[in-house]
Amino acid sequence: MTLDALAQKYRAAIAGAADEAVLEDLRIAAMGKQGEISLRMRELGKMSPEERMVMGPALNALKDEITSALAAKKAALADAALDERLRAEWLDVTLPARPRRQGTLHPISQVTEEVTAIFADMGFSVAEGPRIDTDWYNFDALNIPSHHPARAEMDTFYMHRAAGDARPPHVLRTHTSPVQIRSMEAMGAPLRIICPGGVYRADYDQTHTPMFHQVEGLALDRDISMANLKWVLEEFVKAFFEVDHVELRFRASHFPFTEPSAEVDIRCSWEGGTLKVGEGDDWLEILGSGMVHPKVIAAGGIDPDVYQGFAFGMGIDRIAMLKYGIPDLRAFFESDLRWLRHYGFASLDVPTLHGGLSR
Ligand code: PHE
Repeated sequence: MTLDALAQKYRAAIAGAADEAVLEDLRIAAMGKQGEISLRMRELGKMSPEERMVMGPALNALKDEITSALAAKKAALADAALDERLRAEWLDVTLPARPRRQGTLHPISQVTEEVTAIFADMGFSVAEGPRIDTDWYNFDALNIPSHHPARAEMDTFYMHRAAGDARPPHVLRTHTSPVQIRSMEAMGAPLRIICPGGVYRADYDQTHTPMFHQVEGLALDRDISMANLKWVLEEFVKAFFEVDHVELRFRASHFPFTEPSAEVDIRCSWEGGTLKVGEGDDWLEILGSGMVHPKVIAAGGIDPDVYQGFAFGMGIDRIAMLKYGIPDLRAFFESDLRWLRHYGFASLDVPTLHGGLSR
């Protein structure tokens, strides 16, 4: 075979190689110990000097050509493999998430996330407590002794106890306030927490259900006053309703665990069955609040002569109804799929202050 024919043969074989293994076989066939080119190189020694002058450079040139053709083909195969992978694993990261799927977030979950985002921004962390609690945490520690009328007013569900059961009485918590005590015990002061969660009272009509939701707030430090409470609540209400102005009304009130105490109403209207915030002649009570009673601070194991602060308890269901125009509280708990689809939220839209709470 002439050198030209040899070169032709390898050029074609390399061009048609399907993978690296074939290329390696070709390299050995040409330039391995017994390779076609290697054998011819070995024959150079038997040639006359004149022949060698011609064949030597020609063989070297062929060897160089095949070596670089092999390397070029190898690189081309690797490029093609990468292209193929990129094609197969292609993903459009700019596609929006599908907004409507089977499930939606319940307005209570949504509002809980929104409330948490707002208070987190003001330095409050989230605390939790049990829904079944002792009557000491639910009442006594909150300055509601056993003869106190507030116990009856709260329509408490008591857990059944067999005669002779020595464990302390347990209740379904009637409010999130017992978490004030638990947080003081666990964390001491200074302290800034909220506690969202379910609470229970034996009550049922358009605005009351036996289970509903509150978010408790508690801030303790050496110099916290009612003014801090008012500012925090105003900031919260503006952020929550996503408006520059909402009207709040602080009414003097009474709670055994705060002194002084205030209930807070928000201006609204109910025209045509839809609830509107910020205008109208109606007021809807959204929370109870006040300066934490010294006895409560002491019950939490903190010195009330050093620390003072405010607390509030807000109805999550109430503010959800107000913000999203939901007229009947009972619908929250009926699990009607059509209602859930209408009032539910896309679960991928996590409420944040910078990204928007509700969109
Ligand atoms: N626990 C009270 C209620 O359920 C609300 C409240 C909490 C009031 C904290 C004052 C301070 O009505």
